[in-house]
Amino acid sequence: MIASSLAHDWRATALQFRFALFTMGMMKLAIKGLRDPDLVHPPAALAAIEARTRAMGFDLASETRTGALLRALAASKPGGRLLELGTGTGVATAWILSGMDAHATLTSVDISSAHQHVAREFLGHDTRLTLVLEDGHQFLKRQPEASYDFVFADAMPGKYEGMEDCLRIVKHGGFYIVDDLIPQVKWPEGHAEKVPVLIEHLAGDGRFAIAPLYWATGVIVAVRR
Ligand SMILES: C[S@@+](CC[C@H](N)C(=O)[O-])C[C@H]1O[C@@H](n2cnc3c(N)ncnc32)[C@H](O)[C@@H]1O
Repeated sequence: MIASSLAHDWRATALQFRFALFTMGMMKLAIKGLRDPDLVHPPAALAAIEARTRAMGFDLASETRTGALLRALAASKPGGRLLELGTGTGVATAWILSGMDAHATLTSVDISSAHQHVAREFLGHDTRLTLVLEDGHQFLKRQPEASYDFVFADAMPGKYEGMEDCLRIVKHGGFYIVDDLIPQVKWPEGHAEKVPVLIEHLAGDGRFAIAPLYWATGVIVAVRR
């Protein structure tokens, strides 16, 4: 009797062990699959832009997972008016353009001609794109209320400065997107204190429904109600 009960316990334990191994294997496969950069088919111009970006030592470009998210959100706005604040060298610009349809337009603003020059060289032929060389806050002040379907705020203006001038230009149903919210060693002195203020500000703004994403460098997608 005791021997048969022991054998039964042993069989149950072995079964549980095999099930745990199977679950772990499946989880590993799923995580590996989700992290596979080939899944997202980067835009054609990206490799050349990233090579130039590395060569010039610019380390503020968006990463692949941010790009893939931006592209998916851009694809949800056929015929939309899209805006990027902080062109940089055009990494996120390339991702956003690759999600947009033929009737959508993207304006991308940067204060640095050296950075934006790279975007112009690789993406300037795309007639849907307008590159503006200007201070982002000056640009924002001129924009009419509720005039953009998608705003990727990736410079100080519109994110840490003049945020209201940026939030007011988002259309109902439109996106306001910010990234770089998870602490990074390259952050300049004093920046770490600004991030929670930004997050709380957005979370407390009843005009927007927010999705805080522990994704890439940390992203918030805020949708204007
Ligand atoms: C984080 S990088 C942008 C990266 C780019 N969006 C990407 O995903 O690859 C920030 C950019 O903001 C630009 N910038 C800094 N101050 C600015 C200002 N006052 N107005 C507009 N652009 C500004 C910088 O020149 C820099 O290219």
